[in-house]
Amino acid sequence: MIKTLMGSIREYKKASLLSPLFVIMEVGMEVIIPLLMVRLIDQGLNAGNMHNTLMYGLIMIICAMISLAFGVLAGKYAASASAGLAKNLRHDLYHHVQDFSFSNIDHFSTASLVTRMTTDVTNVQNAYMMIVRVAVRAPVMLICALAMSLTLNARLSCAFLVAVPIMGIGLFLIIKNAHPIFERVFRTYDKLNNVVQENLRGIRVVKSFVREDHEIDKFGHISQKIFDDFSKAERLLAFNMPLMQFVMYACMLIIAWFGAKFIVTGSMTTGALTSLITYVMQILMSLMMISMVFVMITMAQASAERIVAVINEEPDLTDNDHPVSVIPDGAVSFQHVGFSYAGNPDKLSLKDIHLDVAAGETIGIIGGTGSGKSSLVQLIPRLYDATLGTVLVGGQDVRNYDVKTLRNAVAMVLQKNELFSGTIAENLRWGNAAATDEAIATAARLACASEFIDQMPDGYDTMIEQGGTNVSGGQKQRLCIARALLKKPKILILDDSTSAVDTATDATIRKGFKTIIPGTTTFIIAQRISSVQEADRIVVMDGGTISAVGTHDELLSASPIYKDVYESQMAASSKGDTPSPEDAAAIPESSVKGGMKRETV
Ligand SMILES: Nc1ncnc2c1ncn2[C@@H]1O[C@H](COP(=O)(O)OP(=O)(O)O)[C@@H](O)[C@H]1O
Ligand SMILES: [Mg+2]
Repeated sequence: MIKTLMGSIREYKKASLLSPLFVIMEVGMEVIIPLLMVRLIDQGLNAGNMHNTLMYGLIMIICAMISLAFGVLAGKYAASASAGLAKNLRHDLYHHVQDFSFSNIDHFSTASLVTRMTTDVTNVQNAYMMIVRVAVRAPVMLICALAMSLTLNARLSCAFLVAVPIMGIGLFLIIKNAHPIFERVFRTYDKLNNVVQENLRGIRVVKSFVREDHEIDKFGHISQKIFDDFSKAERLLAFNMPLMQFVMYACMLIIAWFGAKFIVTGSMTTGALTSLITYVMQILMSLMMISMVFVMITMAQASAERIVAVINEEPDLTDNDHPVSVIPDGAVSFQHVGFSYAGNPDKLSLKDIHLDVAAGETIGIIGGTGSGKSSLVQLIPRLYDATLGTVLVGGQDVRNYDVKTLRNAVAMVLQKNELFSGTIAENLRWGNAAATDEAIATAARLACASEFIDQMPDGYDTMIEQGGTNVSGGQKQRLCIARALLKKPKILILDDSTSAVDTATDATIRKGFKTIIPGTTTFIIAQRISSVQEADRIVVMDGGTISAVGTHDELLSASPIYKDVYESQMAASSKGDTPSPEDAAAIPESSVKGGMKRETV
């Protein structure tokens, strides 16, 4: 773990070394000062020698100034080293997460990744600051002061030999109990972030279902849990202070008591006792600092483990050693493909899928919710890898391609599509950074997006708010389609991408595909039969398997599921209401089971 973290220090190595170096010099000065004090008192003040008093006083002042300068430098370098480490850690995390496959992200959850990149990195940053400054300062100070006090009076210094082990044991017990609590707290933080993220993203749904109170309760509950855990951990850590102080004052008392006796019997000077007490203070201060560092490290350790877990996570989509970087055509073939989100062959979301699609063919996919439509098409651009069997694109196993090449050739409009903050034109250029204004306008026109973009006061320069909240669902879908068209892909996948677009516009958009990307293999997942009716072939999905394949007419006679869906949608539209996606989704599911039975008989 330490090695992984150290790997992120990089250009801040110099600062990380300079800081402790200045700290050591600072401590050196601080340790000399009490020695000068002995002289000042014994040879100056007590001897009534004004010259000595002034000289030692002056030297002390100079030493104090130098020590101050070293202290400032140490602080400066410590700040730059720790902030630098944090910067590099965030960079490394972010960079690494970009290589993650969907299943890597499923593994950590988005909220947890956010906590790790923010709160956890800050914890490590604070701990690192402590380490380069205090963790060096305290032991050095402890050793020097201990050595000095031993030379001043060995017998009195024995008091420490009793004090240090007592403090050590106390600290060990505290930390051992606090660490597991901190580990738990950070997991709860993930949950908190998740609730916040979910709530803010879905704020419209929350409001329309009047679930605010429920959401506030949920948040309050988790927030309370963090409070409880933190107070428990802090209560444990709070024992540290009284323990230190008890031991510290006990030492002081012993030394003052015996020291006074020694002075009376003449075996010790006043100056020596004064300095000894200063050293005692220094020793106890360093012990206290050491204990604080330990506490800080305990807290940061939990964070560091979480950061390292992300950095060490192997992206499970790895490139072939000799990746193929040319995709000959858009032919797609699923060969006995099985797929499980958990990678577990016993829990398959797709079972034994066998399907050959020629380049340029248009395939419609229909089936109830959860029947595996999205799972199936996600295997084509390798958003996930097949668990069993192989997926071929252009006659090659998708795993043989360079992932970038593959994804550049496949444009996918996801069911949960996203727009990013920026202008409409910027969003569309995600499809092709070099696209001319004309190309953008053409794509927008074919996706039926130009009609509303032209109405906007700023046209293509209209700003899209975060998450695309200032465009309607149907407008967002059309923008996402335009973005995909600009890519001029070999394979185009539309996962339920026109669900919020009216039927007539939907038909116009589909006609557009034939114009702008005639040779493109197209997969259209839809709830409405009308969206797939003209496809070359239609695949009917059911419970993770392909239940039937054929043209519209073939399926009407061969697939009872398809026939049921078609008839229910025709009935609904003749009544004058277009079925909403929810209705359409619900219907096939009820007919699915009956259909299956009839087919197996
Ligand atoms: N990210 C995921 N992790 C685990 N299971 C998932 C995930 N996405 C979908 N599933 C499961 O896979 C099955 C098929 O889902 P999906 O392909 O999205 O269906 P469809 O697109 O046909 O509605 C469902 O049972 C669903 O619960
Ligand atoms: Mg889906």
